[in-house]
Amino acid sequence: MPEELLYEGKAKKVFATDEEGVLVHRYKDDATAFNAQKRGSWKDKGRTNATMSATIFAYLEVHGVPTHFVEQVDDAAIKTKRLDMLPIEVIVRNVAAGSLARRLGYEEGTKLRAPIVELCYKDDELGDPMLNWYHFRELGVSDEDLEFCEELGLKVNEILTPFFDERGVTLVDFKIEIGRDAEGRLVLADEISPDTCRFWDKETGEKLDKDRFRRDMGGVEEAYAEMLRRVQEITQRGAVD
Ligand code: TMP
Repeated sequence: MPEELLYEGKAKKVFATDEEGVLVHRYKDDATAFNAQKRGSWKDKGRTNATMSATIFAYLEVHGVPTHFVEQVDDAAIKTKRLDMLPIEVIVRNVAAGSLARRLGYEEGTKLRAPIVELCYKDDELGDPMLNWYHFRELGVSDEDLEFCEELGLKVNEILTPFFDERGVTLVDFKIEIGRDAEGRLVLADEISPDTCRFWDKETGEKLDKDRFRRDMGGVEEAYAEMLRRVQEITQRGAVD
């Protein structure tokens, strides 16, 4: 039976399934940047983002982080729980890069004294602006949910920083999204991939993420393949421990 397409985004399609409350997220090879002003596509991007997300969600679950992940369906698709999404993008940063480097006037690569958490309003038309708690209260988000978002961001950072370090990668920063499941529990959602994280090789500083596309650096397909290789190789060897 053909699955019903519920939503098509810039880099993925979301389908309903025969199972109540279960969705399929199918990752495309397409990419956009700067709120879809720049477009591109490269081989195996969907496979990398689906497989890396599946591996990392499973790892986070083992480490006590509830997620929407159910199982990987095929190379480029994962099954997830259906959620009611919070209108928030949570960004956590360990090293100054991108918009934070611009905002603070720091050179990219400056290590931060402590992780910085930012909350952005998920709204493409507005360009996902960074807001504070007062703004989110105005939008009807509770303090309890805001606190959960910040704490979950920091917890994911504490788990994934050593995970990537063991794989020779500095986790510079990343973005996560959070939603409420049918039982009313907030869980980690969306994806964790080179689209949503900045990954720098620990030794050389080489960028292994979507900045290669955003900044026209070349080698984007190779960078995604290298990240997938590093995540899969060691994770398979050590299982999810
Ligand atoms: P920024 O430095 O451009 O604000 O990006 C911070 C982090 O958020 C970086 O890891 C890339 C990620 N990100 C997304 O996942 N989606 C987006 O639309 C943007 C702008 C950034």
